[in-house]
Amino acid sequence: MKQTDFLVIGSGIAGLTYALKMAARYPHKKITVVTKAAAEETNTKYAQGGIAGVTDFENDSFEKHINDTLIAGDGLCNPQTVEIVVKEGVDRIRELIEWGAEFDKGVNGEYALGMEGGHSEYRILHHKDVTGKETERALLEKVNEYPNIEFIKHWFVIELITQHHLGYLVTKSTPDIQCYGVYVLNTSNNQIEKILAGNTLLATGGNGQVYRSTTNPSIATGDGVAMVYRAKGRIENMEFIQFHPTALYEPGVGGQAFLITEAVRGDGGILRNKKGEAFMERYDERKDLAPRDIVARAIDSEMKITGTEHVYLDCRHMDREKFIHHFPNIYEKCLSIGIDISKHMIPVAPAAHYSCGGIKTDEWGRTSIRNLYAAGECASTGLHGANRLASNSLLEAMVFGHRAFEHSASNLNNPISPEKIPDWNAAGTTDPREMILITQSLKELQLLMSDYVGIVRTNVRLERAMKRLDLLWTETEQLYQATRISPQLCELRNMISVAFLIVKGAQFRKESRGLHFNTDYPEKSTLLQNIVL
Ligand code: FAD
Ligand code: SIN
Repeated sequence: MKQTDFLVIGSGIAGLTYALKMAARYPHKKITVVTKAAAEETNTKYAQGGIAGVTDFENDSFEKHINDTLIAGDGLCNPQTVEIVVKEGVDRIRELIEWGAEFDKGVNGEYALGMEGGHSEYRILHHKDVTGKETERALLEKVNEYPNIEFIKHWFVIELITQHHLGYLVTKSTPDIQCYGVYVLNTSNNQIEKILAGNTLLATGGNGQVYRSTTNPSIATGDGVAMVYRAKGRIENMEFIQFHPTALYEPGVGGQAFLITEAVRGDGGILRNKKGEAFMERYDERKDLAPRDIVARAIDSEMKITGTEHVYLDCRHMDREKFIHHFPNIYEKCLSIGIDISKHMIPVAPAAHYSCGGIKTDEWGRTSIRNLYAAGECASTGLHGANRLASNSLLEAMVFGHRAFEHSASNLNNPISPEKIPDWNAAGTTDPREMILITQSLKELQLLMSDYVGIVRTNVRLERAMKRLDLLWTETEQLYQATRISPQLCELRNMISVAFLIVKGAQFRKESRGLHFNTDYPEKSTLLQNIVL
C-alpha cells in the first residue's frame, strides 16, 4: 500500500507536464508517477511531425490557428477550449524549451516551422522527424531533478477506487462519485497493491491498439477510458477515431505501423494511386494537404477502386539532401526495407492513429468524478471536435496537464485512511492456463474493429460489430472472474470496453461528420451534438 499527495498515471507529455509543475510548486509534497511500461514507452515518444503553435507573429496569428482548428473539428469543437489551447499553448511551448527540448532552427536562427494538413500557415515546431523522442527525453531528464517525484515503472493500474469499493452502490446518476486512488498490479511480484491519493490524474494516452493496423505502440489500449467508464464517469465522442492517411505499408508486419509524417506532404510529397495518378485533386482543392479525414477517406476509396492494399507517397521529385535533413528517421527506415525515396515511391495506407474523444473533462481537466483529472489523449476537452488538426495533441496535452495541475494544486486533499479501503479480492481465481484465450480474442477484436468500424461505416457493419463484441465481452468477463489478473487480460478487457464505446457512439450518431462517416447517413445533421456515454 502506498499513499501520495498527487498520483499521476502515465509518463507521456500530459502526465510529466503535470508532475513537473506540481513537484516545483510543492517541494515537500509527494508526486507519484506510475506507468505500465518503461518510462519512455508512450505515444509521445513516437510523435513525428511536431507541435503546432503560434510563434511567428509576423505571418501567423492566434485567430488563424483557432480558425484552422475549428474548421478541422467540423462544427463540434468547443470554441472556448480552442481559444484556451491556442493562446496558452505558446507559454507551454516556451516552458518545454526551458526544460531542455530542442527544436530545429533555420539559418537565420529562427525556428524552422513546418506545414501539415489543415494548417493555413507554417507553425509546426519540430525536432527532425523525431519530435516526440526529443520531447520525452527532455521531460524525463527534468523529472530526475525532483526528489519528490516517485517514478514507478511496470506497474499496471487496474481500477479506480471509488465509493463502490467502500460497499456503496454507485451508478451513472450517483451525484458525487469520488476517486480515492487506484488498485495496481506490481508486475515484478504479481501482487495487487493500493495507491491512495488526494488527487489523481489520468494521462493514459490513446487506444489505437483496438485496431489491427495502428501507428500507436502496444501501450495504447485505452485503459484510462475503460476504468472511468467502469467507475461510472462520463465518456464522450468515442466514435471520432482519427486514421492517419500515411502509415508505411509493410505486408506481413503486424503490430505498430511505422508513420510517414504528414510533414512529408507539407514539404511536397504527393499521393499517387496504383496507376500513378495524383488522385487528391479529385477529392479536395487542398489536395494532399486537406484535413486528415478527407485524405484518409480518399485513400480508402482509391484502394477500393483499384483493389490494392495501399497507395503511394511520391517523394522522388523532392530535394534528397533536404529530405534527409528533415526526415532522417523516415529515410533510414525506408532504406532498411529497400526503398530509396529518391528512386522509389513509398507504399502507404491509413492506420488508426488518434482518439479525439475520451474522458469528458471541463476547462480545468476535471472529470465527472471528484478528485480525478484527465489530460492528454485519454481526455475529451472539446479541442478536437469531430476531427483533430495535425500536431494539436502535444499542445493540448501540455495545456491541460498544466490546467489540471493549477486546479488540483488548489484542491489539496489528504488521502483516505488505508483501513477504509479493502485489499483486492483475488479469492477463487487461478493462474491462466491458456494464453490463446486472450491472444485469439484480441485478434478477433482488432479484426472486427478494422473491418466493421473503420474509416467508412454502415448501420449493418456497426450492428454486426456490436453482436461480436457482446460475445467477446461475455467470454472475457468469465475469464476475468476466474483467472489471476495479468496485464494482457486487463488490456483485452479494457479494449473491449473501448471498442464498445466507439461502436455505441457511432450508432448514436445519425449523421456523417468529421472522422465519422456512415454511408447510411451521408449528410451532416443540423443538430450539433456531443455523444456522452
Ligand atoms: P502517452 O504519451 O501515450 O502516455 C500514456 C502513458 O500512460 C504511458 O506511460 C503508458 O504506459 C501509461 N499507461 C496507460 N495505461 C496504463 C495503465 N493501465 N497503468 C499504468 N500506466 C498506464 N501529436 C502531435 O501533436 N504531433 C505529432 O507530430 C504527433 N505524431 C504522432 C505520431 C505517432 C506515431 C503517434 C502514435 C502519435 C502522434 N501524435 C502526435 C499524437 C501524440 O503523440 C499523442 O496524442 C500524445 O503523445 C499523447 O500523450 P499522452 O501524455 O496523453 O499519452
Ligand atoms: C504526423 O507527423 O503526421 C503526425 C502528426 C499528428 O498526429 O499530429
